[in-house]
Amino acid sequence: MKLKTKDLLTLAELTPKEFVGLIDESIKLKKELKKGGNKSVLKNKTLTMIFQKPSTRTRVSFEVGMYHLGGHAVNLSSNDMQLSRGESVEDTAKTLSRYTDCIMARVYEHDLLEKLAKHASVPVINGLSDTFHPCQILADFMTIKEKKKKLKGLKIAWIGDGNNVCNSMIYGAALSGVNISIATPKGFEPDKTVIKEAKKTTNIELITDPFVATKNADVVVTDTFSSIHNLDKKRLQKFLPKYQVNDKLMKSTEKDAIFLHCLPAKREQEVTSSVIDGSQSVVWDEAENRLHTQKALLAALICA
Ligand code: CP
Ligand code: NVA
Repeated sequence: MKLKTKDLLTLAELTPKEFVGLIDESIKLKKELKKGGNKSVLKNKTLTMIFQKPSTRTRVSFEVGMYHLGGHAVNLSSNDMQLSRGESVEDTAKTLSRYTDCIMARVYEHDLLEKLAKHASVPVINGLSDTFHPCQILADFMTIKEKKKKLKGLKIAWIGDGNNVCNSMIYGAALSGVNISIATPKGFEPDKTVIKEAKKTTNIELITDPFVATKNADVVVTDTFSSIHNLDKKRLQKFLPKYQVNDKLMKSTEKDAIFLHCLPAKREQEVTSSVIDGSQSVVWDEAENRLHTQKALLAALICA
């Protein structure tokens, strides 16, 4: 499938049809892989991966994804690049565009990705920034579609910190007609511009009571309380015990509600082990689906 956008930095670049199309394509690629292997649609294509921050899932799923599609990935820690010694983002983008067919970067400041995308002639993918994590949300909505067989009309309850993953989840909800109820402590709400944009197409509830959020929810999601902050005692006290996803909170949902977490999890903080290892948790499918959704995304962007 083809996408109108050159880059994927937030999810807002996609149309609803493209978002749902990528998810359906990912489900096909997963079946194809399990039947014996994917077609080499990215033969001789290369991806450069830049990491300013640590990663397990993003790093491995992108590299393995390129390999499964017949391509190759080059992994760079930003500390090993001239970027860390003052070379400009513009010059880096132009240079990498001469060697490679796509750039994926995990960065602190979202602006850096925008600069990379502006100056690179090849597609740029956000592998997480302080503001967004679009690739995670493709995998999350694929997992929801697999488990619930549909997207439109479902209800997601987001519990905890209104962080980068939450911002992207709001865009995902808006693109697929999913309702989202977000329970955060006051002052920890997601990005105001994202909410304003998404409210045009979906129902978003911003509240402080996790039990109101989980009422009639089909999906419960949380994430670490510490994405871009040190989790000192003062910050932790804002979240605990009220915003922990535990058995009591899960029992307040619909019986067949599923639990998602992008991982890595801080067990017994934002989620208890009983939930993450429990029967409603689909976190390992969710982690696996990073592989399938990113393959669909890479193929769509690089082959366009
Ligand atoms: N969920 C996610 O992006 O995991 P990593 O930080 O391990 O890449
Ligand atoms: N919100 C987390 C996600 C990690 C994949 C973070 O930014 O660290």
